[in-house]
Amino acid sequence: MIDFKEKIAIAISKITNIDADEIKRYIEVPQNNEMGDFAFPCFKLAKELKKAPQMIAEDIKNSFFDGENAEISTYVGKANVVGGYLNVFVKKDVYIEDVMKEAITKGSNYGRSSIGNGKTIVIDYSSPNIAKPFHIGHLRSTVIGNSLYKLYDFLGYKVIGINHLGDWGMGVCRTIAGYLMWKDEYDFTTRPIDAILAIYVRYNKIEKEDPDFKQHAVDALKKLEAGDEEITKIWKWIIEVSLENYQKIYDLMDCKFDSYNGEAFYNDKMDRVIKELEDKNLLVESEGAKVVMMDEDIPPCMILTSQGTTIYATRDLAALLYRIDNYKFDKCLYLVASEQSLHFKQIFETLSKMGYKEYADRCEHIPFGLVLDEDGQKMGSRKGNATTLEEIFNESIEKSLKIIEEKNPDLEDKNKVAEKVGVGAIIFNDLANSRIKDEIFDWNQILNFNGETGPYLQYTYVRTRSILRNLNEVPQEADYKLLNDKEGYEVVRLIGSFADTVKLACDKNEPSIVSRYLLDLAKAFSRFYNEHHVICDDKNVQNARVLLTKVAGDVIKEGLSLLGIRCPEKM
Ligand code: ARG
Repeated sequence: MIDFKEKIAIAISKITNIDADEIKRYIEVPQNNEMGDFAFPCFKLAKELKKAPQMIAEDIKNSFFDGENAEISTYVGKANVVGGYLNVFVKKDVYIEDVMKEAITKGSNYGRSSIGNGKTIVIDYSSPNIAKPFHIGHLRSTVIGNSLYKLYDFLGYKVIGINHLGDWGMGVCRTIAGYLMWKDEYDFTTRPIDAILAIYVRYNKIEKEDPDFKQHAVDALKKLEAGDEEITKIWKWIIEVSLENYQKIYDLMDCKFDSYNGEAFYNDKMDRVIKELEDKNLLVESEGAKVVMMDEDIPPCMILTSQGTTIYATRDLAALLYRIDNYKFDKCLYLVASEQSLHFKQIFETLSKMGYKEYADRCEHIPFGLVLDEDGQKMGSRKGNATTLEEIFNESIEKSLKIIEEKNPDLEDKNKVAEKVGVGAIIFNDLANSRIKDEIFDWNQILNFNGETGPYLQYTYVRTRSILRNLNEVPQEADYKLLNDKEGYEVVRLIGSFADTVKLACDKNEPSIVSRYLLDLAKAFSRFYNEHHVICDDKNVQNARVLLTKVAGDVIKEGLSLLGIRCPEKM
């Protein structure tokens, strides 16, 4: 594929004598293509060239097609100056042909790249706490992490997805203690997870009113740590039941992990953490506990409690050492709510002090906002609304089924379609805006087939497929120049920026960049479809439009799959 950006960067570089790679990094794609296909913000060079941006833009423009730059006229039609920007318009015919040929020949590999080859990235996501409901709070970690997994994979990285389960400590021991006391009162035969969760909730309620009640869980934890046979058996069973329940949700979300090494996995790997910290004289006694002091103005990182037990942070350090040894990662991302920012600052700094600065620098906490209901309340805080992910997905699937039944009563496999639509709607809502923003959970928005939603994108894809189904055959190639009208060109331009969009989303660890892109593409396709007849008298024009329809649909489908959303073929 022709790298227009690079061609333009080289041309500008020859005129300004500034490194072409640097220039390429600055070149932007304007939102509105009336402002050009590419724009170069000249203020980026103002300091280096000691000139006003507007002047720089004028100078570049005046020599753009001159002398040794003459070749650029094969690719660029014109350049003009607006403010401090040089706006560049490519030769549409050349561009359209290039993008369409590439998309048609690459098929489902279109947009894929190899820039990540040879690099390993660890993504720590989902990571629910065993024996607690798979809460809406873990939705975001799962959805964003799952999408980043797919996006990095698409760029050729070796990705290791880790579900760092919260399968150790007081949480699970509250359930164990409750189970020991009340097991006869519950039915574990049909949906054991419900009974386990009910026990957890009941235990916590009592402990809230009577703090001494905590002792039961403390005792259970002591026994678990000592390897008590009965307690270990219950613990294992609880993990098994919980994982079975999570698996259903992960399957719905097309979410996989390469490792389920949770906190318990590191039980026999703690001594090394303590020893390395001691060897480096980093452990300081503080009120009976052992801590590592931090440089910045943040509280010390606790490693051992006053009872001598390890904690969450100790386990995260053990996990990091393990990941360094086993994966030698180039990046390690943690998809965890922003509430844990301090925790990650502490463990990354501790790791650095332990002598692993190089690796500490490759670690990054990727935070995200809360999930709020339509009244702006934290989801799940009000009684009555669904709070487990399973309930939420079920509700969404049911609601989708109703809508589909109204819209298209004769559709085959309605339940399967409703599953894709219902689940896709929840996922898209989570990824629609930049992750750090709080997410609003409003059913009317989420399932609005005409809004900026998952169902809208799925519906656009389905429409492209139904256009193709109505034809006797889909051509292999066409005269793509015939797509050179305003609406057609806009669709091509978006298709052409698919690969760059995925790269940008990974650079910023921000799947919403892909979500916004897909909305733009779907809207552009709808405008094209409303303005022009795909099926028309001129067969050459028809062939070109049919292939544009096909590629637009393919990219929407592929883009959605990178978000973890499946597309039905009909809906
Ligand atoms: N289980 C933790 C929680 O729910 C999240 C774990 C995140 N990953 C990690 N390596 N700390 O709060």
